[in-house]
Amino acid sequence: MSLFDISRWGMDDSGSQPTCRVVVHRYVENTFLKKVKKYAILKHCTGWKQMNNEKNTSKDIGDRFQQKTKYQRNKLPRHFMDWDNKPTLYKAYEDPIEELSLPEPEFRNEAKLMEVLASRRSRRNYDPQESIDLKTLSTLLWATQGATSKHDTPFGPLFLRTAPSAGALYPIETYLNVRLVTGLEPGIYHFRPHYFDLELLKKGDHSEECAAAALNQKMVKSAQVTFVWTAVVERSKWKYLQRAYRYIYLDAGHIGQNLYLAAEALQLGCCTIGAIFDEEANKLLDVDGVNETVVYMATVGVLRKSIQDFPSMPP
Ligand SMILES: Cc1cc2nc3c(=O)[nH]c(=O)nc-3n(C[C@H](O)[C@H](O)[C@H](O)COP(=O)(O)O)c2cc1C
Repeated sequence: MSLFDISRWGMDDSGSQPTCRVVVHRYVENTFLKKVKKYAILKHCTGWKQMNNEKNTSKDIGDRFQQKTKYQRNKLPRHFMDWDNKPTLYKAYEDPIEELSLPEPEFRNEAKLMEVLASRRSRRNYDPQESIDLKTLSTLLWATQGATSKHDTPFGPLFLRTAPSAGALYPIETYLNVRLVTGLEPGIYHFRPHYFDLELLKKGDHSEECAAAALNQKMVKSAQVTFVWTAVVERSKWKYLQRAYRYIYLDAGHIGQNLYLAAEALQLGCCTIGAIFDEEANKLLDVDGVNETVVYMATVGVLRKSIQDFPSMPP
């Protein structure tokens, strides 16, 4: 075939006209440019360009993020904090189905911190028939994000909490998929630490969708309640720019560990979840996945008495 017989490069056996992309591809495959200019030509083919860029970016995006967000002496990012536009630390829904205040948290047993630390495990075998009571849920919520002191600031009250947060910016929001909690109808709830209450966002048991969003991990279907944590990214970005993502994940980790320890102290099973189909989880909560996005989840359940919980690996 002649090098310049463009009309035939892409013709297939049936003689039908090839697409532009196929023509370019076959041209490159069949000419001396194969080795030398293949990449250059493909780059100019819109679809390929985008595809290759995406492939290359996602391959090392984590490595580059880690390098690019390093603090280096004398090279700190120049950034001024726009105090007039400091994002609010508190999310509240305009029109929740219902607002429900939570009972005071209660510490029924005198679990010792060091013993709880020593016995903590990820526990995944729950009795699906059992329920937990509202006081217990309230205690778990308090342990994760409970306000422990209040400070007046020019931006309104600042509530410091049980878990630390970089810059006291508290980017993590807590949502619950309630399946079996006495005194609460099943549904998706949003927790407001500053009011210590819940906003009912969606009625009904959403455990199936919640489990599906957690890579189909079946413990979510039997858990009495599943915590779903999102990050409101701008709260942290306002101060830390792209480095904010480091702190967001660290914040979430602290909250997760608080839940583990509180559940252990209350003799409940807990398992955190990082294996998430992000967009499915975002959809479940109706968050956009950019400004606010799901970062972590955790099941809490009444442990099956007959089953020994043995360490098992996540997917
Ligand atoms: C960030 C993170 C993500 C996790 N994701 C999952 C998960 O998706 N599914 C799961 O069954 N366990 C998950 N786990 C629990 C780990 O598997 C567990 O911590 C590990 O096996 C050690 O066991 P231990 O927690 O009992 O000490 C996760 C733990 C962490 C810290």
